[in-house]
Amino acid sequence: MTDRGSGGPVRTAVVTLARAAGAYDVVSLAVPAAPGWASARPGQLLVLPGSPARGEVLPRLLWLADVTVDPVHGTAVEVAVPAGAGWEVGRRLRLVGPLGRGFGVPTDPVPALVVGHGGSTVPLRWLTSRLRARGCPVHLVLSAPEPDGLFEVAALRRQAASVRLTTEQDLARVTLEVLEQEPRVGVVYAAGPRGPVRQVAQVAVGAGRPVRVSALDLDEPLLCGTGLCGQCDLRPAGPGGPRPLRPCLEGPVVPGEQVLDAAR
Ligand code: FES
Repeated sequence: MTDRGSGGPVRTAVVTLARAAGAYDVVSLAVPAAPGWASARPGQLLVLPGSPARGEVLPRLLWLADVTVDPVHGTAVEVAVPAGAGWEVGRRLRLVGPLGRGFGVPTDPVPALVVGHGGSTVPLRWLTSRLRARGCPVHLVLSAPEPDGLFEVAALRRQAASVRLTTEQDLARVTLEVLEQEPRVGVVYAAGPRGPVRQVAQVAVGAGRPVRVSALDLDEPLLCGTGLCGQCDLRPAGPGGPRPLRPCLEGPVVPGEQVLDAAR
């Protein structure tokens, strides 16, 4: 059953599985078949519209953690929610998605460097497995405010050629170290708070590597996820700069060059 929302049709999903993973519960949702799922990518979003009857006035934004489209068993979508958030099996919920532009993978099997922080690491296990499927060895640089704040780090360790854990403040410095140690890295991906992501983009651009970043941080208070409120805008640092970028509408994933001059 669907109706129309501001970002596309509102679909009804059902929780089919929930398992604990550190600071998160990984929740599987059965969703109605739709063309967008087969082409969904890490870095895309779901929006759960507000439900005033449940005391939820504002929409909620979630990263897609994985999508599986199976002609026999149907479409399964994975998301991560805070541990103990009460997403019990059988719960029905309304959602809009997949929304936005996600991370693409290279055409050729070149080594890749993936950088992420905290809750923004939710799409990175899926991104890493897509890169591996393309034949790209993956180096990871990760940070989190708490040790269990990284999403599925054990699974990431199994897939990655190397994993460096650091602090949010040191993400860019460690990124540069890995680029110097791994000169064959041909592409950099980054997801996290705006400041560190901008610094990682600067380092990658300075090192002459193509860089794709998620310009949206779901740990910030965002109001819509569908381009209506302007809350996520990246504004240029000075007058006469480029127009503001609205990541939830024009991204979230954009070339790193687009975030270099933003003031926030
Ligand atoms: S979150 Fe509202 S415009 Fe992006």
